[in-house]
Amino acid sequence: MWTSLAKLAASSSLLLSSLPTVFSASTSSKAEGLGWHFVQNGTTGIVALEAIVVSPTLIVIFDRVLGDPLQIDGHQAWGALWNTETNNVTAINVVTDSFCASGGLLSNGTMVSVGGQPVELPAGESVPPDLDGTTGLRIFEPCDDPAGVGCTLFEDPATHHLDEPRWYPSSLRIFDGSLMIVGGIHRNTPFFNNFTAAAKSFEFFPKKDGGVPRPSEFLVRSLPVNLFPRVFALPDGKVFMVANNQSIIYDIEANTETILPDLPNGVRITNPYDGTATLLPLSPPDFIPEVLVCGGSNTTDQLLDASTLSSQDPASDQCSRITLTPEGIAKGWEVETMPEGRMMPEMVMLPNGQTMIINGARTGYAALNGVKDPVGNSNADHAVKTPVLYNRDAPLGSRFDRTGLPTTDIARVYHSSVSLTPNGNIFIAGSNPNGGVVTGDKFSSEFRVEYLNPPFMSVPRPAVSNVPTQFGFNEKFTANVDIPEGLNTSDVKVALMDLGFSSHAFHSSSRLVFMDAQLSDDQTSLEITSPPNNRVFPPGPAYVFVTIDDVTSTGTKVMVGSGATPPVPDQGVPLA
Ligand SMILES: *[C@@H]1O[C@H](CO)[C@@H](O)[C@H](O)[C@H]1NC(C)=O
Ligand SMILES: *[C@@H]1O[C@H](CO)[C@@H](O)[C@H](O)[C@H]1NC(C)=O
Ligand SMILES: *[C@@H]1O[C@H](CO)[C@@H](O)[C@H](O)[C@H]1NC(C)=O
Ligand SMILES: *[C@@H]1O[C@H](CO)[C@@H](O)[C@H](O)[C@H]1NC(C)=O
Ligand SMILES: *[C@@H]1O[C@H](CO)[C@@H](O)[C@H](O)[C@H]1NC(C)=O
Ligand SMILES: *[C@@H]1O[C@H](CO)[C@@H](O)[C@H](O)[C@H]1NC(C)=O
Ligand SMILES: *[C@@H]1O[C@H](CO)[C@@H](O)[C@H](O)[C@H]1NC(C)=O
Repeated sequence: MWTSLAKLAASSSLLLSSLPTVFSASTSSKAEGLGWHFVQNGTTGIVALEAIVVSPTLIVIFDRVLGDPLQIDGHQAWGALWNTETNNVTAINVVTDSFCASGGLLSNGTMVSVGGQPVELPAGESVPPDLDGTTGLRIFEPCDDPAGVGCTLFEDPATHHLDEPRWYPSSLRIFDGSLMIVGGIHRNTPFFNNFTAAAKSFEFFPKKDGGVPRPSEFLVRSLPVNLFPRVFALPDGKVFMVANNQSIIYDIEANTETILPDLPNGVRITNPYDGTATLLPLSPPDFIPEVLVCGGSNTTDQLLDASTLSSQDPASDQCSRITLTPEGIAKGWEVETMPEGRMMPEMVMLPNGQTMIINGARTGYAALNGVKDPVGNSNADHAVKTPVLYNRDAPLGSRFDRTGLPTTDIARVYHSSVSLTPNGNIFIAGSNPNGGVVTGDKFSSEFRVEYLNPPFMSVPRPAVSNVPTQFGFNEKFTANVDIPEGLNTSDVKVALMDLGFSSHAFHSSSRLVFMDAQLSDDQTSLEITSPPNNRVFPPGPAYVFVTIDDVTSTGTKVMVGSGATPPVPDQGVPLA
């Protein structure tokens, strides 16, 4: 990857003259020129502990009600729109408490935020501005204004609510364009989930089964370390889940769970032992699903309370990868080792097929004030400030690469969020392992936004135009492309991406499906074939990125499928 940019620079005297020392690893966040760069710009006014891209310029962020500076209607805001063009923030009105919620986009383009916390009274207030968030259902309709003018969140808890209280749930857009909502907890417990408190079920929005949640054995078996289950839509429409050290495939249509192998070596990866997981990019013609799980902890889950745990316990450096075919499942998890252990890492898929592993801490646990020796209020310590790339196609043992990756000076531990933006860079915000707003601590409430800019942000990029705003499945369409001189056009990748909903070290619904693409002889247009059906890419909003010789275009927003309100019928052609 790095070498092809080196070739690019070498082939361009213009670049070389302006960027003389580009290829040494940069540890400065201020460095200019070719390479990876952290760039701090703007503050969010609320702790961005959840983030979802809702338009080419806007990210919705959520927090809770405990003293954030951003105001709305005479009280603290706990939801906001972040503008990635202007780097400013506008509060949005939220009715219920969105703390530790999840969310996603539906097939009709609407964003839905689900679940949240029971109401808490901020110090000094006699009436909380927020209502109970545990059954919260917050609807943000598609927003066309680049600054979000006129775009609001709709909530009516009397008519629009979940069927079961869910704090710390996950959610997933499935093949019919609905959101599946998984697990969570009904109310506060000391540190761990437990049988009495757990939401041991799945439900859907829009509702299925007459609004009766579906009980799940998996969500019982994976107690007590199973908050924010890591869940993925497989290309056949089934759902892979991993929580604690357990994994299953859930068949939504048959309502059956098939038990898969446990994670090796006692490693557990869901809250409060947060590791992270991603479905690796799916490629034509076979779209073979592989899941990568990294970090977390190998501490036992047989404790009744957390007072024996330490903020200095090493986090797991293990990544485990499984291919979800009958042969792959029989083979089980393949284990590899990150350069360091990480509690609460984030994984962000990049349009070139690499996965960025970023944030988190080398020791301790998620949550706050649970262990015997919190740092301030943080259960974790030793923030990891240098990201690392994972190359899925490299041989086992040589997949991690941090060549040229910079180091930030901002710790991002509990309650932080990360997302790829339509611009192609990485938005990083939040961090607050505290019960309220804290300043001057080692792990303070963090309002600063930082972007991690990939090397392609500082070179001429392919410019893609005339991508249809909507396309169906198994369809061919043509887009124009203007390719900067010097790029090797034999390496063209077209990625269709859901950028996911970031909350608690997991990006619900995040997805990358590569599309077949033929570059025209005159190298000015691409004939692209959309995914074969709505199970390979659940219908809904997405971004198309073109990467040529490892230089990525900006993302074009598209609607995949008809844009109809869920549930939508099966479309396209079955996989061979
Ligand atoms: C911060 O963002 C603003 C608005 O996009 C831009 O004008 C400014 O140059 C940015 N600052 C840095 C340091 O990138
Ligand atoms: C950002 O600033 C502009 C100009 O002041 C304003 O119109 C806009 O509403 C602000 N918010 C967002 C999210 O762009
Ligand atoms: C289980 O959850 C209940 C309900 O929140 C809580 O009262 C109880 O203390 C928890 N039990 C343990 C062992 O943590
Ligand atoms: C998974 O965790 C359970 C509960 O702690 C334990 O009994 C089981 O042995 C673990 N599996 C593996 C493969 O370590
Ligand atoms: C637990 O994880 C730590 C950190 O990755 C590692 O050093 C240790 O060997 C692991 N213990 C076991 C029993 O796997
Ligand atoms: C372009 O890339 C292909 C493989 O991706 C390689 O075989 C070829 O040698 C490259 N061409 C140049 C001019 O570097
Ligand atoms: C999308 O569907 C949801 C669920 O039925 C609905 O609340 C929302 O208003 C719909 N949005 C659009 C743009 O049709």
